[in-house]
Amino acid sequence: GKYEYLLVEKKGAKENVGLITLNRPKALNALCDGLMVELADVLDDFDKDEGIGCLVLTGSTRAFAAGADIKEMQDRTFQDVAGKNFLSAWSRLAANKKPVIAAVNGHALGGGCEIAMMCDIIYAGEKAKFGQPEILLGTIPGAGGTQRLPRVVGKSLAMELVLTGTSISAADALNAGLVSKVYPVDTVVDEAIKTAEKISSNSKMIVAMCKEAVNRSYENTLQEGLLFEKKIFYGTFATNDRKEGMTAFTEKRKANFTDS
Ligand code: HXC
Repeated sequence: GKYEYLLVEKKGAKENVGLITLNRPKALNALCDGLMVELADVLDDFDKDEGIGCLVLTGSTRAFAAGADIKEMQDRTFQDVAGKNFLSAWSRLAANKKPVIAAVNGHALGGGCEIAMMCDIIYAGEKAKFGQPEILLGTIPGAGGTQRLPRVVGKSLAMELVLTGTSISAADALNAGLVSKVYPVDTVVDEAIKTAEKISSNSKMIVAMCKEAVNRSYENTLQEGLLFEKKIFYGTFATNDRKEGMTAFTEKRKANFTDS
């Protein structure tokens, strides 16, 4: 196929879900530069595909991703990483317009945990492990582990994870609010696809506006966020899909959204 490190498929009864499978099994899906560039490319392709409403990102049973590629980083200098755009492809996932659901089995460590946190929803298989072991390598998380993790799970657990490098189970991740559901290992991808199909059945335009509003809550004070939300809410009244949704309700039928 087009990609060395990814499998890319369309899923769901209406083929409206984009499934991206990290496919570098021998290295436990270590996130080398080439893989991250391919991921950015496929996200661009799916964003342009009007038939796709939501994405699912997954790995293998053994590893979602065991982090950035340590062998690739081993001999790099400060000048290499700071001066040569290392991590430039890593910001693409968090900026994705369409929602992304992470379906995590096995290890989600370091950069693997960080890319899961860049997704909008995380579902975990029962044997998933989440952690930020960078401290054991003499470095620190570099793609959100010190920023997104405390916002999601609170300071105490985040500090415990990043300062000790130990990982937590799927059950602990559920308890901490890092993931929203835990499923048996062999059903987590299908469950993520089912949720993605539900999201895809809504207006893609309104879904994007809603995702943007939720993400603002991580950037803003409450008052700024509420103001942003209200502007977007008012904005939905400029769309055909808002009119159609409310008309369909009063006519007791299913809405027929046109993404307009
Ligand atoms: C490169 C990796 C890798 C990684 C695993 N491999 N993780 N290669 N980078 N992050 C390779 C191993 O070298 C090995 O290849 C093969 O995958 C299988 O791994 P094993 O260690 O033999 O498997 P196992 O004993 O089952 O242990 C699994 C594991 C362990 C616990 C996940 O592999 C591990 O600790 N990996 C590193 C986890 C980590 O530190 N992640 C953070 C990276 S730093 P060979 O060829 O030797 O058999 C990071 C920073 C991000 O993510 C900052 C900004 C992006």
